[in-house]
Amino acid sequence: MHISTLSLADVEDARDLIVASGLKPYTLAIYSHALANPNNISLGVWRQRDLVGVMFLRYTHEAYDLDQIAIKKRERRQGVARALVKAGTQRARQRIELEVSEANVAARALYESLGFVHVGTRPKYYADGCAALLMNLETGDA
Ligand SMILES: CC(C)(COP(=O)(O)OP(=O)(O)OC[C@H]1O[C@@H](n2cnc3c(N)ncnc32)[C@H](O)[C@@H]1OP(=O)(O)O)[C@@H](O)C(=O)NCCC(=O)NCCS
Repeated sequence: MHISTLSLADVEDARDLIVASGLKPYTLAIYSHALANPNNISLGVWRQRDLVGVMFLRYTHEAYDLDQIAIKKRERRQGVARALVKAGTQRARQRIELEVSEANVAARALYESLGFVHVGTRPKYYADGCAALLMNLETGDA
């Protein structure tokens, strides 16, 4: 397994992985735009040549927004997401912010295990009526 910056050649595989994970995908153009911005941190995890995980951190001047993270189903519960977020944290050296559905047990547990702190709630934020939990991680290097 190795973690590296996504390139434009990975955009379609990355989007396919997002779709297969049940997340709402952006257009290919938006992912390409994200990759083109050198302030953003867009990482992939590969098992041999197979892209098995992706994470997009969007730079917002004050912090990074953890926009999307997804791991292939067969690769889950093996520490892949944890390794990916830690790699992002090392590169970001600044606060990371995110929002996660209160119903997303796996993602909430992942973020809590990494030290993200619940800092706010947006009630009924998602279409299914679930609240969005706002979580931050202070990296200490900002
Ligand atoms: C959330 C997600 C990224 C986790 O990826 P993963 O590689 O399976 O996570 P890891 O193996 O690194 O897990 C790290 C920790 O997170 C927690 N965790 C992960 N999946 C969990 C689950 N299904 N149930 C409970 N806790 C879970 C555990 O604390 C785990 O540590 P442990 O295995 O030592 O107990 C993955 O389930 C996924 O892709 N989900 C669909 C997309 C999504 O919801 N993304 C987040 C919103 S953008």
